[in-house]
Amino acid sequence: MKTSTLPITRRDFAKTTLLASAAVMLSGAATFAQSRRRIRTGVIGCGSVSHSYLPVLTECPFVEVVSLCDIRPERAQQQAQRFKVAHHYPHIDRMLAGESFEFLVNLTDMQEHERLNRQALAAGKHVWSEKPIANSLRAGQELLRVARQKRLRLWGAPITVQSPQFAFMARTLAQGALGRVAAAHADYGHEGPNWSSFFYETGGGSMPDLMVYNLTSLTGLLGPAKHVTAMLSIVTPERDITEKGSIKVTEEDNAMVLLDHGNGVISHVQSGFNYFNPHGHDGRGEQRHTITIVGSRGFMGMVGYDWAPLGVDLATHEQPQLKRHATDAKGYVWQQGAALAAECLATGRELLTTPEHALHVLEIMTAARKSQTTGKRIKLASMFRWPVVS
Ligand SMILES: NC(=O)c1ccc[n+]([C@@H]2O[C@H](COP(=O)([O-])OP(=O)(O)OC[C@H]3O[C@@H](n4cnc5c(N)ncnc54)[C@H](O)[C@@H]3O)[C@@H](O)[C@H]2O)c1
Repeated sequence: MKTSTLPITRRDFAKTTLLASAAVMLSGAATFAQSRRRIRTGVIGCGSVSHSYLPVLTECPFVEVVSLCDIRPERAQQQAQRFKVAHHYPHIDRMLAGESFEFLVNLTDMQEHERLNRQALAAGKHVWSEKPIANSLRAGQELLRVARQKRLRLWGAPITVQSPQFAFMARTLAQGALGRVAAAHADYGHEGPNWSSFFYETGGGSMPDLMVYNLTSLTGLLGPAKHVTAMLSIVTPERDITEKGSIKVTEEDNAMVLLDHGNGVISHVQSGFNYFNPHGHDGRGEQRHTITIVGSRGFMGMVGYDWAPLGVDLATHEQPQLKRHATDAKGYVWQQGAALAAECLATGRELLTTPEHALHVLEIMTAARKSQTTGKRIKLASMFRWPVVS
């Protein structure tokens, strides 16, 4: 994808985004009638986020959850009982050798994704992975190569580009309502999770856990980053983790990243685990603009988090008072990514979310780390198609 003809590309992008969004929103009944195939699904990782995924997956008409797995076997067992899943396993080897399935949903620790995704692809499974897909761009690209070679699908969270609010922002940019786009800002933070240490250990950090959402949204709206400059730090060197006690923090818990999107467009994204935030994880509670974009003739702010947006405020040269748009989620929820992927496997309907986009965001995060250690501005190489289905 090129950004040198940004307004044209944006226009095409918005048109197809909206068509694709409409297709996704209208998906349910019509295509289900065409394909009654349920995708036999295994879920690995039965911790915190499984409480959000499993209700969606077990209600999805395109999914049959046949097995669960967790190295803490009591968690797999409890979720199997709660969601009436017939099989549960304490290890991926046992899961892969057990009840047959075709689609693995990976909800484990961030550092485990790459290894488990690789093993699942090698065993012939399609994969949905929580972020990140892998620990490095090269490893992620290799996973995608293997998936393609084996005619398998690989997707990664997050799915912020699937929301109607994202579509509204894309369309507004495409219409040129902001004039010459200059700058954007996005931020996401809270006081940090206390239930698992991996968030603070090498390969974790606030970037792959939190900033990943904003990076996906901003690159989806403004195009891939060409250069990255970053400063990262550890503000709280020790943390108390439930059942573990005090741990050392070895990955950033405070990140400031500058992105050059080309054509003069610059964005700034920040994330951290030391942000006072009265709303914590509750998306509905957040009413601030967490993403803002400004140009020569307008301003646009996403209300609430991009993973659970509540609307978009827009002010333009013609209408300088902020006006709220796109307040209807139209069925979008952040935890439906794996269900949409299963729907794609069952019906062929593509997602706006692509693995190439997830890998570009992964490259930004690894480049940000390189920028911090070298003090340099880092050039990026990876590209992705706009979230477009023609
Ligand atoms: N918790 C949330 O609200 C939330 C929201 C969105 C995304 N996520 C993402 O979801 C992922 C998991 O986060 P979480 O908060 O659920 O963490 P968690 O610690 O609550 O759960 C992770 C689970 O994976 C299991 N696990 C780890 N390695 C495993 C392995 N090799 N095989 C099988 N099981 C293994 C752990 O025992 C644990 O039960 C992370 O990538 C996180 O960024 C979490």
